[in-house]
Amino acid sequence: MEKVCLCRGVTKEQIIESIKNGAKTFEDVKEKTGAGTGGCRGGRCEGTIETLIKVYEE
Ligand code: FES
Repeated sequence: MEKVCLCRGVTKEQIIESIKNGAKTFEDVKEKTGAGTGGCRGGRCEGTIETLIKVYEE
């Protein structure tokens, strides 16, 4: 499985699931999955998460 946030080990699937469960911003995804709360503070993963939100939000 593809990891989006390496430092917290959060996968793409987990992030997509959080978006389907209502996460609409990077902050929401952070809160629900822990992605973006590790060492990079979003520097490495925020862009990918924003893209996933655009693609999967309904
Ligand atoms: S890759 Fe983990 S906080 Fe960005």
